[in-house]
Amino acid sequence: MTHAIRVHATGGPEVLTWEEVQVPSPARGEVLLRQTAIGLNFIDVYHRTGLYPAPLPFVPGLEGAGVVEAIGEDVAEFQLGDRVAYANPPLGAYAERRVMPADRLVRIPDSITDRQAAAMMLQGMTAQYLLRRTYPVRAGDTVLIHAAAGGVGLLACQWAKHLGATIIGTVGSEDKAELARRHGCDHAILYKTEDFVAQVREITNGAGVPVVYDSVGRDTFLKSLDCLSPLGMMVSFGQSSGKVEPFDTGLLGAKGSLFLTRPSLMTYTAKRADLVAGAAELFEVVATGAVKVEINQTYPLSEAAKAHRDLEARRTTGSTLLLPS
Ligand SMILES: NC(=O)c1ccc[n+]([C@@H]2O[C@H](COP(=O)([O-])OP(=O)(O)OC[C@H]3O[C@@H](n4cnc5c(N)ncnc54)[C@H](OP(=O)(O)O)[C@@H]3O)[C@@H](O)[C@H]2O)c1
Repeated sequence: MTHAIRVHATGGPEVLTWEEVQVPSPARGEVLLRQTAIGLNFIDVYHRTGLYPAPLPFVPGLEGAGVVEAIGEDVAEFQLGDRVAYANPPLGAYAERRVMPADRLVRIPDSITDRQAAAMMLQGMTAQYLLRRTYPVRAGDTVLIHAAAGGVGLLACQWAKHLGATIIGTVGSEDKAELARRHGCDHAILYKTEDFVAQVREITNGAGVPVVYDSVGRDTFLKSLDCLSPLGMMVSFGQSSGKVEPFDTGLLGAKGSLFLTRPSLMTYTAKRADLVAGAAELFEVVATGAVKVEINQTYPLSEAAKAHRDLEARRTTGSTLLLPS
């Protein structure tokens, strides 16, 4: 037996209940992990509320780090005692122990701690594919990153800076603006009170930016289109403020033959080679110090509901961990 957070009915944070659960033995191609740290992500909220449906009851969570405790048949790549991390389905990260398909794991290098790995795998590999593959940032680009003090945001600001970009970031408070500035954000805009479209136009001398990385969704989507230069790329990769409303694709033409993509980490890491390459690049920028993982909140795993409340209330910055006892 082990302990885990389970969801029996979708709803508010109160549906996250701490229970004793059975852990299966690892089947063919799987390993059993004793988890040392679990990453909190906004997608966990979408599963909890039912916005992204999952079969009930389920253990939420897509990201963690831990030690291999048992190995199923046909697993050649990992050995007992290996330190590994993941940021993929299947759901089930909010647990002290769990089984995972071995082909979704990466080994954690000696230079990276378990806590760093659990805090950055999902948000950091997202920053990696957004900045290196979806719209490859070049030195000299000016880019707009929404929610710049958030989990993905802080990592993306630092990484884009490392690539030689000028970063415009939006944030919900002056404290967050200061935090974003300390992590590479050249221009922090308080988007609750300031008109970020006007500010972006001013900062870019009217030219607009070649790319917007928009994780906020409903509240920012249409205005983000107005920040783009002709042929610019709108990367709508999240919906922290709610789902983007349906819109007339003619707008993309009218606003300058814009490109629009709605990417997902799951697609970008579906092939094992891409997962391993993305993780390797992430580990490299963290190991060299170009990107720092800011673990700004930790909660006992049993208090996952409190972590969800804080995340949804915009009280968190950087990355957040849930810790098994
Ligand atoms: N597509 C992908 O592959 C992928 C991968 C990872 C994450 N994501 C998405 O990226 C987003 C960020 O994820 P994260 O885990 O790093 O979270 P996060 O950015 O740390 O937290 C969400 C932030 O969004 C901002 N926000 C704006 N309006 C909000 C509202 N109405 N309610 C709550 N927050 C609001 C808040 O920052 P301010 O107070 O500064 O506005 C808040 O701190 C999420 O939407 C997530 O689903 C997508």
